[in-house]
Amino acid sequence: MTAPILLTPGPLTIALATKQSMLRDWGSWDADFNRITARIRERLLEVVHASATHECVPMQGSGTFSVEAALGTLVPRAGHVLVPQNGAYCQRIARICRILGRSVSTIDYPEDAAVKADDVERALIGNPAITHVALVHCETSAGILNPLAAIAAVVARHGRSLIIDAMSSFGALEIDARTMPFEAVIAASGKCLEGPPGMGFVIARRESLQRAEGNCHSLALDLHDQWVYMQKTTQWRYTPPTHVVAAFDTAIEQFLAEGGRVARGGRYAASCRTLIDGMAKLGLKSFLAPEIQAPIIVTFHAPATPKYAFKSFYDAVKARGYILYPGKLTTQETFRVGCMGQMGARGIQGAVDAVAEVLAELNG
Ligand SMILES: Cc1ncc(COP(=O)(O)O)c(C=O)c1O
Repeated sequence: MTAPILLTPGPLTIALATKQSMLRDWGSWDADFNRITARIRERLLEVVHASATHECVPMQGSGTFSVEAALGTLVPRAGHVLVPQNGAYCQRIARICRILGRSVSTIDYPEDAAVKADDVERALIGNPAITHVALVHCETSAGILNPLAAIAAVVARHGRSLIIDAMSSFGALEIDARTMPFEAVIAASGKCLEGPPGMGFVIARRESLQRAEGNCHSLALDLHDQWVYMQKTTQWRYTPPTHVVAAFDTAIEQFLAEGGRVARGGRYAASCRTLIDGMAKLGLKSFLAPEIQAPIIVTFHAPATPKYAFKSFYDAVKARGYILYPGKLTTQETFRVGCMGQMGARGIQGAVDAVAEVLAELNG
């Protein structure tokens, strides 16, 4: 049986060539392997037009490891982070800051509202102690697109630093260091760039990294140390996830061949439209207003029938070749469908058709 297609926000279904590039073993000291690391770092900088101003520091682990590394390394111990919150990943950032002993303030939104640049501006004016704003670009919990460009402009205007969690947007949605000033942007291998999970990366302003020596609470997550060591030796500081790195390189090669960020984002947007329209025809309403829906992952209200239970719905859709994702909302019964990754020959329509069959059974 072929493996089901993952309609999840990472890990996601990756191309065969990407999987195949994990069949070779690499020595972490080997110059050929280190050239792969260097190429990945350069290409990731180019995705956000940051080669002239920023450095790309890869980090072992899932995305959260890189988020924690960025906050712990780039926010000084006396720093104060403002977190506009409209979902679980924003809440995780605030939690990391508290655990690291960094002062933190939040602006709290409901789960179906985007962050407003005006609110961020008011908070910055009201509290001169704030040094950093930490923004989640696409809040994967509900699938909200937060207005990065407007917030970046406000943060820059008030002389503060912006740290962007772009975990589920990097490579698909526009992020441009030349027009959206940021101190750091964080993402990972297993999201829109369609590699396997296992490494993250932080694209950090060069001067900020240079200033960051000694800030970090952690040895393993010290981004400054990782960067300095890599610059000096071309190697990762501790054992790299070699197979993941090699596969990520292949994934980036395919990303570029597809047409880069614009083409990748366009493919996801087309899938997202097909998905929302197709599900609407089945009577399944998406949770967010269209103007704040990111073309990455869509939250749907659960079918209204009392016979619905996520677990059996999930199993029935899985039996037809697709893996759904549970909802992450605190107040409503929902499920999620990702628009990322390789969707197979039938595209996202295949998933809509699978859901249609399962609903017919449920209602029958
Ligand atoms: C916006 C965002 N931030 C952080 C993370 C955490 O990444 P991980 O689960 O890889 O640690 C995710 C995961 O999906 C995410 O979507």
